[in-house]
Amino acid sequence: MRVYAELENSIYPKSAQDDFTMLRQREIVLGESARCGYMRNWNRRITESHMKILETTNLKKYYGEGAVQVKALDGIDLSIEEGEFTAVVGTSGSGKSTLLHMLGGLDYATSGTVKVSGKKIFELNENDLTIFRRRQIGFIFQSYNLVPILSVYENIVLPMELDGRRVDKAFLDQITGTLGLEKKLDNLPGQLSGGQQQRVAIARALVTKPAIILADEPTGNLDSRTTQEVLGLLKLTGERFHQTIVMITHNEALSQLCDRVIRMEDGRIVHDYRRDDIPVRKALSGEVGV
Ligand SMILES: Nc1ncnc2c1ncn2[C@@H]1O[C@H](COP(=O)(O)OP(=O)(O)OP(=O)(O)O)[C@@H](O)[C@H]1O
Ligand SMILES: [Mg+2]
Repeated sequence: MRVYAELENSIYPKSAQDDFTMLRQREIVLGESARCGYMRNWNRRITESHMKILETTNLKKYYGEGAVQVKALDGIDLSIEEGEFTAVVGTSGSGKSTLLHMLGGLDYATSGTVKVSGKKIFELNENDLTIFRRRQIGFIFQSYNLVPILSVYENIVLPMELDGRRVDKAFLDQITGTLGLEKKLDNLPGQLSGGQQQRVAIARALVTKPAIILADEPTGNLDSRTTQEVLGLLKLTGERFHQTIVMITHNEALSQLCDRVIRMEDGRIVHDYRRDDIPVRKALSGEVGV
């Protein structure tokens, strides 16, 4: 079980890992039965709700103090409806990744709240927050976060294994087929190109059919054709499983797919466009709103 804890931690960014080792170990101590009832209720709430699935109120995340303090998030009020496909854009350092981490409960805020399906996630105890994250959120990180000693197949099914769930083989085949990974399943991540590793990370995020997908530049290392296919797959699975997608990207190809574009500057949301309001392509490319 200790090994499992370390594996789960490796999915998440380094900064969060110390916390997660502790969380996962506590979860093991508390056992399966305690958490199952809780998550059944959570799942029911999510599937039955037609409300705002993600909501932040005056969300702030400051790093450091005094003259060197960085206001990575400086009062974010954001509301995302179930099923919405939102793109987040903004210059480097504007707080995009920090926002994504907060939405997924990967790190605690300095102040303010994040609600998922009406529930304040920072009020969950550590154990429930870990379970929530694993079952409800599919993360795709900028840096893949694959486990180097596990095969591609083992990496993809890792979140299911950690949760003691059976793998939906047909769905897995569909995902790996679409992502062009069928022939790489027995390889180690180190034997793949950057783009292929990114596709493994995408497959791993999709395999649990999470309610929310949080993706940080998921197509940054892919060629334009694969980018189109991957975005198409995300859109398709998003619709099929009623997923809510928040994706950091500058890719204009997304303009055909997303419902909304949020632009960040200096830890704040400076523009919020909906598909019906504006040419989304222009918002993504920075032709408007900069
Ligand atoms: N762990 C940390 N400690 C200190 N400062 C941090 C930390 N994480 C992020 N920051 C700072 O917070 C600000 C926002 O960072 P963030 O990673 O959210 O930016 P970003 O918009 O995702 O940028 P990029 O497009 O380059 O990925 C930056 O100034 C960054 O240096
Ligand atoms: Mg970032």
